[in-house]
Amino acid sequence: MTRKHIEILTHSLDETRKLGQKIGKQLAPGAVVALTGDLGSGKTVFVQGLAVGLDVPDDYYITSPTFTLINQYPGRHPFYHVDLYRIETRYDLEEIGLDEIMHGDGVTAIEWADRLEKDLVAGYLAIHLEIIDDDTRKILMDTYGLEGLNLI
Ligand SMILES: Nc1ncnc2c1ncn2[C@@H]1O[C@H](COP(=O)(O)OP(=O)(O)O)[C@@H](O)[C@H]1O
Ligand SMILES: [Mg+2]
Repeated sequence: MTRKHIEILTHSLDETRKLGQKIGKQLAPGAVVALTGDLGSGKTVFVQGLAVGLDVPDDYYITSPTFTLINQYPGRHPFYHVDLYRIETRYDLEEIGLDEIMHGDGVTAIEWADRLEKDLVAGYLAIHLEIIDDDTRKILMDTYGLEGLNLI
């Protein structure tokens, strides 16, 4: 299967969340979603959508992990939300067991995935968000080994 690439403009938080939800519904155990983009671009909002699509109960409110690097939520599959904003060394990654998590039977979403060394995971969906203006975001999605996903 060929790689898929798509670019979408969203005009509200809700639209971005819906997009995440649509992707989340399709994610199978072992899937990794790698998110990049500036602070405030909507990575966490997209992850909240993934969680809805993965049937994480809505009494869990998903924010970026602040003091922890990783949060785990129950859902259709175990859902791991990782934020590497404060990551400093490769040792930190080993410390949190990211490698095992990504190769386990849950679904993993990673904010600031550009801080991760590429060879750590074989296949993933890359989501890059750009701030266009206050309410508009450009969202670029690229499959790297998850070509079965429906992006639109
Ligand atoms: N189209 C949009 N999609 C996502 N978020 C948006 C959009 N327009 C405005 N926003 C705002 O941008 C912010 C995104 O925050 P957040 O998801 O925490 O960013 P990040 O995790 O990338 O730092 C929120 O305050 C949200 O209300
Ligand atoms: Mg965030």
